[in-house]
Amino acid sequence: MKILILGSGGREHAIIWKLSSEIKNPTIFAIPGNGGISDLANIVNIPLRQKKEIVDFAQKEKINLTVVGPETPLSEGIVDLFLENGCPIFGPVKKAALLESSKSWAKEFMSASGIPTGGFEIFDDFSVAKDFIETKAKFPVVLKFDGLAAGKGVSIIYSIEEGIPFLENIFLKNIYKTENPKIILEEFLSGRELSYLIFTDGESFIPMEPAKDYKKIFDGDKGPNTGGMGCFSPVDFCTKEIKKIIENQIVIPTIKNLQKRNITYTGVLYCGIILTSDGPKVLEYNARFGDPETEVLLPRMKTPLLDVMEAVVKRELRKIKIAWHQEYCVDVVLASRGYPEKHQTGKQIFGLDNVPRDVFVFHSGTKKQNNEYYTSGGRVLNIVSIGQTITEAGERVYKTIPLIDFEGKYYRNDIALL
Ligand code: GLY
Repeated sequence: MKILILGSGGREHAIIWKLSSEIKNPTIFAIPGNGGISDLANIVNIPLRQKKEIVDFAQKEKINLTVVGPETPLSEGIVDLFLENGCPIFGPVKKAALLESSKSWAKEFMSASGIPTGGFEIFDDFSVAKDFIETKAKFPVVLKFDGLAAGKGVSIIYSIEEGIPFLENIFLKNIYKTENPKIILEEFLSGRELSYLIFTDGESFIPMEPAKDYKKIFDGDKGPNTGGMGCFSPVDFCTKEIKKIIENQIVIPTIKNLQKRNITYTGVLYCGIILTSDGPKVLEYNARFGDPETEVLLPRMKTPLLDVMEAVVKRELRKIKIAWHQEYCVDVVLASRGYPEKHQTGKQIFGLDNVPRDVFVFHSGTKKQNNEYYTSGGRVLNIVSIGQTITEAGERVYKTIPLIDFEGKYYRNDIALL
């Protein structure tokens, strides 16, 4: 069995860890991978943006399954290119990935499909958006950049003075370097948030267990958004009744309404949900596994991931059932101080050999040189453990963190406590 994984985060490390535990003598390749991934997979030196070269590699190596981790290659149509060349790949086509790559497309889709979400306005002009903020906005409001921004293009705005710099960054400074920048101004919703991921082959779907992600950088959910600073699963406040509502009002209408638009969504669909007093609503869709959600979901998944992925690719998901371990899983992210803004990299990581056997370390921004690991990104490592209770799992993680060190190590102290 030959597998190719695209991506370089903790999510991809967890996917490779799970697949390599369930396949006999697999050959796994990764593009671009990271330090931890290089211990389990062969790193292939092709830049992720060179899609044609990646397809050529998959054909030459006769890869049985390619799995796409991050959103950018999905939004650029890597799945379409693989399928045109007859290569099996796990992930949605470009049109389906619009659910994540264009927040305005997703909002209009939800609005037209009757899927519960916050009210919104879309702007593609600085002056019009500024005028709206100055005269009509009811604060707080949420401002979102329309395209991909690694989880960082969203801000809650409490005043005109806070709103204008956001607009200036998007429209005047064009910090995300897009041709026609757009923003979405959304109603601010309050409630508990959770990540509801499903596997789907475009017809049937299987939900994963809910997970709770911590997006803000500081304890107490303060500061700017990040890609995610920690996570746990299962989520006790997501009861069976709430799951049913999410499936009936959000998941099923999403799949059905995509079908009506002749869009077959295959892969993982991630629904970012908020439980409001009016019921669950969609905050965002992602067209892929979450990071760090994957790091707490896969250690709990009893069923072989490969069976599920192959069933998705063959459009036979109806034949599969997924079983989960009932234990709790907690992930705390160790980041480089300064993240999600400017941060240092290239710092040696010490103590990985001291990690107890019942704790997993999934690497994110790391590289390996001369048998030593170094930081190479904002999120560096995921420290993950399982326990009979969420407290037991969390304590095991927090007891491990002092054993690992690198200059500028930063983490939240309240993961799984809040
Ligand atoms: N944890 C949020 C994301 O994967 O986008």
